[in-house]
Amino acid sequence: MSDFVSGFWSYYIGAIAIAGIVFCVWLLFSQRAWLKKTVEHTEDTGHVWDGDLTELNNPVPRWWTVFYLGLCIVAVAILVLYPGLGSYEGTLKFTSANEVKSQREALNAQIQPVYERFGKMSITEVAGDPDAREIGQRLFLNNCAQCHGSDARGSGNFPNLVDGDWLYGGEPEQIMHSITKGRHGMMPAWGAQIKPAEAADIAQYVRSLSGLASDALRIVPGKRGFDMFCAACHGAEGKGNTALGAPNLSDNIWLYGSSEASIVETILNGRENRMPAQEGILTEDQIRMLTAWVWGLSNPGSRMAAR
Ligand code: HEC
Ligand code: HEC
Repeated sequence: MSDFVSGFWSYYIGAIAIAGIVFCVWLLFSQRAWLKKTVEHTEDTGHVWDGDLTELNNPVPRWWTVFYLGLCIVAVAILVLYPGLGSYEGTLKFTSANEVKSQREALNAQIQPVYERFGKMSITEVAGDPDAREIGQRLFLNNCAQCHGSDARGSGNFPNLVDGDWLYGGEPEQIMHSITKGRHGMMPAWGAQIKPAEAADIAQYVRSLSGLASDALRIVPGKRGFDMFCAACHGAEGKGNTALGAPNLSDNIWLYGSSEASIVETILNGRENRMPAQEGILTEDQIRMLTAWVWGLSNPGSRMAAR
């Protein structure tokens, strides 16, 4: 893999690295005195201290020279095996990403036996198993809590997974699909078709669906607008549609808030939300475990049944 936009920098860096090694070897051979087995005469630098301490100019010891040459050979070997010369990949094709990947595969193989027992159980049975719940919770804390919260109650745009209210459905298959493939919620923007005042009326009607304080006079035109623009996705009674991820607007559970301003903002500018697909990040076993754990959160009866 190379991040270089042109070949020049790759060659430039490669050339500097090789030139460095060549220079080191040249430096060594330019001081050829070490090649001679014995030193015939010792040069005196003429520096004398403390009366009789004379500084000599001896060639470097042989062991040192051999060591030095050995290091140059090691340097060349590393540059052949590993990526170091610009965009040259090295014969081992080493990358740190591959390293992480192979470590992860090894770890997964190691923990495989732990999951084997649960592979034969249905999701609802797994949800009732105390060991499985412990594993599920750890996986959740490591992979999901940053968005959904460590108690899975969500916050802001991140849905609460505990409240039994589902954008995409709370059956095990639907939860597994949400986790495996991810989700991409899209509420279209209606700013071009709906005027702000109309949107405010519709917002009043939407609030009334959840029994929130609303203006009885504005609800009437608001309902008309809702039937025309919104019912197709959110349903005639605003109960939502899990196939589209259109939220239930009548349960007083809000992703973006229940104020008129927030609902008007949703209507005029739309909303977009994304749950990242875990396929390829987590193994199938881990996703099953998480599915069971998440399902169990809003089906607490499953834990009792299994006890
Ligand atoms: C980067 C933030 C992020 C991470 C990490 C994340 N999620 Fe989500 N998740 C979201 C968002 C945002 C949505 C809502 C998507 C939408 O509105 O279309 C969502 C939706 C979901 C849903 C569907 C909820 C419903 O009401 O139908 C489930 C189930 C879910 N996530 C489970 C998980 C699990 C399990 C993990 C850990 C593997 C996880 N998520 C990790 C952001 C995240
Ligand atoms: C094409 C389908 C579609 C249509 C038509 C549509 N919506 Fe939505 N709406 C969605 C989806 C999908 C979401 C969830 C977006 C997300 O996951 O972030 C949503 C979200 C919302 C929310 C946010 C709910 C919350 O929990 O905070 C509100 C309010 C809303 N829509 C109201 C309306 C109104 C009012 C109209 C008519 C003017 C309308 N929608 C028309 C699909 C639609």
